[in-house]
Amino acid sequence: MSARVAALIPAAGSGERLGMGAKALLELNGITLLERAIRCLAPLCDEMVVALPSDQLGFELPEVVRKIAGGTTRQETVKRLLEATNADFVLVHDAARPFLPLEVAHKVLSAAKEFGSSTAALPAADTLVLEKDGNWDLLIDRSNVRAVQTPQGFNRILLLEAHLQAVQENWEATDDAGLVARLGKPVALVNGDPRLFKVTKPGDWALAQAFARVWDAENRWV
Ligand code: CTP
Ligand code: MG
Repeated sequence: MSARVAALIPAAGSGERLGMGAKALLELNGITLLERAIRCLAPLCDEMVVALPSDQLGFELPEVVRKIAGGTTRQETVKRLLEATNADFVLVHDAARPFLPLEVAHKVLSAAKEFGSSTAALPAADTLVLEKDGNWDLLIDRSNVRAVQTPQGFNRILLLEAHLQAVQENWEATDDAGLVARLGKPVALVNGDPRLFKVTKPGDWALAQAFARVWDAENRWV
């Protein structure tokens, strides 16, 4: 029997930095960020679980998608999502990243199957420096620096172990691969993509609005 894959989508945040309400439920070119994440992941998984803000559980989603209430932090939300499936592998992907190229998701999943844990990660294109009191303090060698994105893929049992350990040890992380790394387990890095940027602040929203039309024309969604 082939391994079962679940897509887990944290979409329960309040979008404070963007300041437009529940971010995942905002529309870009007529399609919500969440629906975009769902459509990108659908070809890769056997089941899909989405975490929504608890007052949005009535939000209409395709029937195949299971809905649960998210937690107060992203980490808590992902733990709840994990507890809602017993698939062999999970792909965790933030609804806040609405443009997910299929080939990146494929590579993350295959790396997770091979190594137990993987994430999309983008090499740094800009010069990187450390700042101190508003000034250039130190140049950082960017050759080995990666900006970690989602999707992240895991053997489910491994990620659950990382989350349980995190609760015990009070570890906090903004992503799941970070918790697995903290366990001392390897995390395979797969080349990410600039289109996978996270919609976090108003400037990202402006970019996402402009890019949605290009994406939709290429992906023949609308
Ligand atoms: N998320 C979640 N549950 C939370 C917090 C965040 O499911 N308690 C999700 C968000 O919905 C988003 C992803 O985690 O898809 C990444 O989080 P972020 O970009 O920080 O979104 P928000 O937490 O909504 O934004 P902000 O931090 O500005 O409030
Ligand atoms: Mg947040």
